[in-house]
Amino acid sequence: MDSGAPADANESGFWDAVSNHVMRYGPQFERRVIDRAEGSFVYDTAGRAILDFTSGQMSAVLGHSHPAIVRTVQAQIGRLDHLFSGMLSRPVVELCRRLGSLQPGLEKVLLLSTGGESNEAAIRLAKIVTGKHEIVAFSKSWHGMTGAAAAATYSAARRGYGPVAVGSFAIPAPNAYRPRFTHPDGSLDWRTELDDAFALVDSQSTGNLAAFIAEPILSSGGIIELPPGYLAALKEKCRERGMLLILDEAQTGIGRTGDMFAFQRDGVTPDILTLSKTLGAGLPLSAVLTSSAIEETAHERGFVFLTTHVSDPLPAAVGLTVLDVVEQEGLIARAQVAGKRLRAGLEALQQRFECIGDVRGRGLLLGLEIVADRAARAPDLAMGDRIGAEAMARGLSMNIVKLPAMGAVFRIAPPLTISDGELDRGLEIMAEAIAAARR
Ligand SMILES: Cc1ncc(COP(=O)(O)O)c(C=O)c1O
Repeated sequence: MDSGAPADANESGFWDAVSNHVMRYGPQFERRVIDRAEGSFVYDTAGRAILDFTSGQMSAVLGHSHPAIVRTVQAQIGRLDHLFSGMLSRPVVELCRRLGSLQPGLEKVLLLSTGGESNEAAIRLAKIVTGKHEIVAFSKSWHGMTGAAAAATYSAARRGYGPVAVGSFAIPAPNAYRPRFTHPDGSLDWRTELDDAFALVDSQSTGNLAAFIAEPILSSGGIIELPPGYLAALKEKCRERGMLLILDEAQTGIGRTGDMFAFQRDGVTPDILTLSKTLGAGLPLSAVLTSSAIEETAHERGFVFLTTHVSDPLPAAVGLTVLDVVEQEGLIARAQVAGKRLRAGLEALQQRFECIGDVRGRGLLLGLEIVADRAARAPDLAMGDRIGAEAMARGLSMNIVKLPAMGAVFRIAPPLTISDGELDRGLEIMAEAIAAARR
């Protein structure tokens, strides 16, 4: 085990520059300089390997520096990089065609750069098509840091920035580990919860409900999976009110949960789908997908969403390669198989360690919740911190979500290309880290 201290005394200039010039934008910086990354590992300047169980920022589904992505970027940047927004190129049109052929009802595609941006566009689309403006989301959601996306983000970063959009409402997400409404046997009664939540939305609405925006598995909210049947019921609530259903599959899209899109398990097609993080496998690429009918109405009403990079061939070429590699390497099926292995390993850890209260999620997007008391399900934030630090010191990067009243949840989302050996190594490090954190 290494100390986790700076790799090299010569790096003091680096840390001076960090304190003097790098704006602190939220997370506490890892005290080591990252130099390169390959496959499932990132390496610091001392050459120490860190197994990346969060795919960078939950994005690198192909691992780092996948040879096919490296080839695409090198070839594309030398040929055609960036374009005037009114010009079209083959990579852009081909990516729209490929994405728009994946799911009937989502034929039309807009390519953008970030997840927040894709949700801005989706919300604008819903507003212009419905002629209304109220947006409902889950109270533990994360949809991005820009205007409308931030107004629909309730899990964090809400205080201190002044008013959000008029007509922003939230409902609780169904939480099987901490149910608010229960059947007589104590299990989650999500239908009653949903009815109750929409009664409250209706009483607050001024009759201008435009859309509900949801993650099929709330990730930043602590890996809260919508139970089977919930999405269909939510879509029905939307239909009854003339609202559109927007699904944000920033983290769940492109195979991570064992389907191309998480909504496919439920057989419910959203009116609008947003993709980001996993679509570019770590490069800035996002997309908005919708039906031809919705696109037609929006166009008739003068829909505009013009950005600097809306027609860039370089990220589009990367997106095409991501889809190719996912198909060629069978990564959707791999997410199912590897997900089962990882889950079995996490459940074995749960048998061994009292502090693991819950294991949840789907495919290769799993959550591990750390509690002080299994019966009371009381979250143990300090223990979660210690485990994360012990894991990092042993060469495993895991991301912990710490939200008041939500618990301390590790979000485990390794690349879909991870090998069985690497998964097992990660589980071993986790066991060592938990044992050390308990001492
Ligand atoms: C579900 C979801 N949507 C949207 C976003 C925002 O994406 P970006 O940071 O690329 O704007 C995130 C980022 O964490 C996310 O998890």
